[in-house]
Amino acid sequence: MAYFNLSFLALLLLLLPLALLLILYFIVRPRPVKIPIKNRHVFITGGSSGIGLALAHQAASEGARVSILARSIDKLEEAKNYIQLSTGIDVSIFSADVRDYDAVSKVVEEAGPIDVLIVNQGVFVPEELEKQGLDEVKFMVDVNLIGSFNMIKAALPKMKKGEDSMPRSIALMSSQAGQVGIYGYTAYSASKFGLRGLAEALQQEVISHDIHVSLIFPPDTDTPGLTEETKKRPQLTSIIAESSGVMKAEEVAKKAFEGIKSAAFIVPCNLEGALLSIATAGMSPQRSFVMAFVEVVAAGLVRLVALFFQWNWYNGIRTWHAQNKRA
Ligand SMILES: NC(=O)c1ccc[n+]([C@@H]2O[C@H](COP(=O)([O-])OP(=O)(O)OC[C@H]3O[C@@H](n4cnc5c(N)ncnc54)[C@H](OP(=O)(O)O)[C@@H]3O)[C@@H](O)[C@H]2O)c1
Repeated sequence: MAYFNLSFLALLLLLLPLALLLILYFIVRPRPVKIPIKNRHVFITGGSSGIGLALAHQAASEGARVSILARSIDKLEEAKNYIQLSTGIDVSIFSADVRDYDAVSKVVEEAGPIDVLIVNQGVFVPEELEKQGLDEVKFMVDVNLIGSFNMIKAALPKMKKGEDSMPRSIALMSSQAGQVGIYGYTAYSASKFGLRGLAEALQQEVISHDIHVSLIFPPDTDTPGLTEETKKRPQLTSIIAESSGVMKAEEVAKKAFEGIKSAAFIVPCNLEGALLSIATAGMSPQRSFVMAFVEVVAAGLVRLVALFFQWNWYNGIRTWHAQNKRA
């Protein structure tokens, strides 16, 4: 009898996950799809520096027709020469400020229909809200969030029509500070959390046009932007942010393209990012039934890990304040 009960239990333990996998296989939406990159028009904002430049280089290496947009024409020329020298591919460059809708629309008209739009431009000025000027808050929201609206609004009509029958992609560069609020990033986190709402709603609006939205969440990444940012970082921001390490721009670009090509909605870039993505999966779309399985099964445990992180961060904040009051 005991033997029978044990084998029944073992069978149940095997069947339950299989049944869950089967259910998830049928219900995950949107359905899996592949986004081809070779010979397609990849348009990258903020493509003259850091992560954007690495993305442009990666796209060119994969045989895409690449366009990059940024404000400084000198930096754009430099980026174009660098990509041309290392890949032999010519890159189209466009100078515009994403905050200017008319300028962005003109560029999109000139560049022609886009197959993969990577909205990557971003500015980050860390400071506690009480000290930060509202002009800086507005600057980050305008470039990171409103600039992304401008870019997508300008590109969408032609992307919907499409030149071929292949699926297209809109990818947004968020940040791990767009998954979890971090000390010193009130404005930056708000602008990046905003991208998530944009992306979740937009995916529903464009799915019937075979356009697939990806949201990329890099940790600290070694770029000119980060070098400038760390000069101004409050000490507590560094203490909290260091738990996710620093990646190279090329590594982030590689992860980003893997995500875009498989049309993943959430694209983490490292292990901590993968844990964060499971912890914050919420109501976001999931195409992979295997990842959906991991999210369902690991939810409780990952929440526990998240609570340990919060415990560690809040202890760090309390200790830092106690030490700096004494000093
Ligand atoms: N580096 C990190 O640690 C990190 C971590 C997570 C997420 N991210 C995100 O990744 C993205 C790229 O960051 P990065 O570190 O590579 O930055 P970066 O090296 O400072 O490059 C930023 C790019 O955006 C362009 N840009 C800035 N403001 C613009 C505007 N108003 N209109 C058009 N283009 C503009 C810049 O060129 P111009 O100045 O010439 O316009 C440049 O090409 C950002 O969205 C950032 O929030 C970065």
